[in-house]
Amino acid sequence: PANGYLRPAGSPVTVIAHRGASSAAPENTLVAQEAARRAGADFIENDVQPSKDGVPFILHDGTVDRTTDGTGAIRNLTSAQLKALDAGSWFSPHHTGARIPTLAEQLADLRTRGGNLLLEIKGAHTRDEVAKIVQVIREQDMTKRVFIQSFEVNALKYTYELAPELPLGLLRSTLDADPVAIAKDLHLTAYNPGNGALLARPGVVADLHEAGVAVMAWTVNSAATWKALDALGVDAIITDRPAELAGWNDAI
Ligand code: G3P
Ligand code: CA
Repeated sequence: PANGYLRPAGSPVTVIAHRGASSAAPENTLVAQEAARRAGADFIENDVQPSKDGVPFILHDGTVDRTTDGTGAIRNLTSAQLKALDAGSWFSPHHTGARIPTLAEQLADLRTRGGNLLLEIKGAHTRDEVAKIVQVIREQDMTKRVFIQSFEVNALKYTYELAPELPLGLLRSTLDADPVAIAKDLHLTAYNPGNGALLARPGVVADLHEAGVAVMAWTVNSAATWKALDALGVDAIITDRPAELAGWNDAI
């Protein structure tokens, strides 16, 4: 089937809000998600990991230390313990009371208020842990509005086995020798490189496009680099500053 994530000629780049509008609100919370929606982001990017009792939660780091008032590894904390933490006050006093959302809560918010999700399966996951993520996406009836990405090849393989209808992106900090070959091997809809690596080997964009694979570059917060990536024809840009990228998009 045709890849609907490829950017038609002349249309603006897809704006993806990294961890929500994470320059304006505490990352990976529903407040950051709402800020991204108001900023006009096409997608919200978030990171998912399981709690000790196997519930998928939205958190970037392996521990809660940096972004909450608690301490410890997410995989050692139960959902009740995670829900008791304040995930906003580290960012600003104004955001005190924000919580770490579960994946189900995040998807319910997107379903009712609008928005699409670029969901990063963060860190190594077992097949059962990926199955739980897929189960939640299906229960929330959001398979058409979720795009899965991961640095973890196994997480993408499990997702493809369990839910071939979900589009997949492979995150890379450095480029593969042959990105097209790995894209075919893993059934990728997108190849998602760090912007520095991509700008050092820009010909990869045309190669991937020729193979029908979209390119989503991360994480870019300056207009100069937005411009360079736009000129290369990348399909989507992941940014902490979705309002500014959407505004820049509108202005060109
Ligand atoms: O979406 C790309 C980006 O999120 C990958 O890096 O560390 O922010 O998850 P990180
Ligand atoms: Ca991420």
